[in-house]
Amino acid sequence: MTISLLDNLKIRYRRFRIASSLHRIDTLGALHRAWAYVHATVLPGDYYEFGVYKGNSLINSWLSHQYFRRRLERSGQLPFNRTGTVARFLARTPTFYGFDTFNGMPDNSEGEDTLAPGSFQSSIAHVTRRCAIADLRHPTVRLIPGLFAETKEQIGPHQAAIVHIDCDLYGSTVDALDAIAPRLTQGTVLLFDDYNLFRADKQRGERRALAEFIRKTGLNLEPWFAYGPAAQAFLCHQ
Ligand SMILES: C[S@@+](CC[C@H](N)C(=O)[O-])C[C@H]1O[C@@H](n2cnc3c(N)ncnc32)[C@H](O)[C@@H]1O
Repeated sequence: MTISLLDNLKIRYRRFRIASSLHRIDTLGALHRAWAYVHATVLPGDYYEFGVYKGNSLINSWLSHQYFRRRLERSGQLPFNRTGTVARFLARTPTFYGFDTFNGMPDNSEGEDTLAPGSFQSSIAHVTRRCAIADLRHPTVRLIPGLFAETKEQIGPHQAAIVHIDCDLYGSTVDALDAIAPRLTQGTVLLFDDYNLFRADKQRGERRALAEFIRKTGLNLEPWFAYGPAAQAFLCHQ
């Protein structure tokens, strides 16, 4: 898979328009708002994405993070000193984890053309090259290939600030939530990109997986905002 000149320019251009993303009501806007919240509340932790495909949301997330971090680091006009909570928050750059087969959708019986096994073909080399265009490189980015159920041991050691679940399928969401559960903390943002897929059917997809997860763990996930065609953001309470 090669990166076209147009794709390369698009990734570079995104950096310049990222500042105007806050009031967008799509995935880009949701990620921007999530990072605005993380910086406003100085919530330490990593970014975890389940469902990377070619890396668009991963790259946008990184650019939003960089935007808010620079604002906090560089502004000389802040009405407070950066010595305690803010200094500790800025001392560490979050790691951006991307979990995916990088080989398309796994076997599933959803019966949807858009989710057929093997669709969303990508490759880890391709995503690595696209990330590098946005200066997102190892070790800040960790791409973990394989099924979520088989890579859960590779979840990082730090708590999650933002979890982006964009894997469409019920079974995949069960596995993603199972993997990330130990890293959820008070205030973690959870973005479910396909929450209302399957016509918002409570017995299917991410909706079903999340309802079961809440029953099992007793976590309180407060609905925060809806975005995009079928997505929903939550805030975690412990
Ligand atoms: C809709 S795409 C993700 C789109 C991406 N976030 C973007 O911004 O373009 C869904 C991805 O989830 C991945 N996926 C779904 N179930 C998975 C599983 N159980 N394990 C690993 N990857 C999975 C697929 O390989 C696919 O790349």
